[in-house]
Amino acid sequence: MFSYRHAFHAGNHADVLKHVVLIATLDHLLAKEAPLTVVDTHAGAGLYRLDGDYAGTSGEAAEGILKLLAPAPPVAFAKKVAEPEALAPAIARYLEVVGDFNPQGGARIYPGSPFIAQHLLRDQDKLKLFELHPTDSRTLSANIAQLEAGRQIAVLHEDGFSAATKFLPPPSRRALVLCDPSYEVKSDYARVLDFVAEAVKRFATGTYAVWYPIIPRPEAHDLPRRLKTLATKAGKSWLHATLTIKSSKIVTDAGGTTHRPGLPASGMFLINPPFTLKPLLQAALPQLARRLAQDRNATSSIDSGG
Ligand SMILES: C[S@@+](CC[C@H](N)C(=O)[O-])C[C@H]1O[C@@H](n2cnc3c(N)ncnc32)[C@H](O)[C@@H]1O
Repeated sequence: MFSYRHAFHAGNHADVLKHVVLIATLDHLLAKEAPLTVVDTHAGAGLYRLDGDYAGTSGEAAEGILKLLAPAPPVAFAKKVAEPEALAPAIARYLEVVGDFNPQGGARIYPGSPFIAQHLLRDQDKLKLFELHPTDSRTLSANIAQLEAGRQIAVLHEDGFSAATKFLPPPSRRALVLCDPSYEVKSDYARVLDFVAEAVKRFATGTYAVWYPIIPRPEAHDLPRRLKTLATKAGKSWLHATLTIKSSKIVTDAGGTTHRPGLPASGMFLINPPFTLKPLLQAALPQLARRLAQDRNATSSIDSGG
């Protein structure tokens, strides 16, 4: 437990997918004047230095946000596309938000979900942030304190799975709940399902967004299928988006050394997604797959129902 630190992964392809979806969803929900509550069950540290020690060790942002910001799309593995390709609106918007944290250009500072949400929220909205890791929770509290946002933002050093439903339904009966665990323990998959089932029972009209890794393990494979069943049984609409940047195959080279691919793909599953999300992702996901491709297995998918 707790070996996971998001700083190693900040700005990677999974964050790109998650945060493109988060921003597109928030933009829609914030178009209405009525107050919105955002609940982030697994918040992380909030803000990351991509030139800092943690990010530098794994360099995962190089496969994500930094690759997207590169001037020429790396097309070595991608299908040929007519150049120059205009950025899909959801990607352009994501880069605009990241750019707001980097007025001098580039992406030295990468905003995690708490800072993305805070950046977009209005005075009447609320943000509830859960983070259980002692160090990340302290860092998150310190980062949030600098905003002097007062009662608008609550940082809770509590288990997001069991405690976050206490904010549902919020007084305004409008909420986006992001559930983004690290899945470092196998039980996280079952806990996500239990959490979403309980949350939807308490507050059926909320918008729920779950991130999950696409890796060769049965629990990961089953999670979107089970979420789809849960949504369908509850009579709720759903949307499932995936982004793959490379093969998941473990390769052994001529010298007998085994190379594990790292995270090859991830998905976002939403219950009660905004109706505007699907067309935005239909334009954005194939472009993300092309721009972030590391081999010929790069692809994306989008499916919806309800
Ligand atoms: C993938 S990261 C979150 C990234 C963040 N949502 C973002 O998009 O910037 C998952 C975080 O959950 C924290 N965590 C793990 N178990 C938790 C739990 N039961 N409740 C709350 N936080 C937890 C980890 O310490 C880690 O910081």
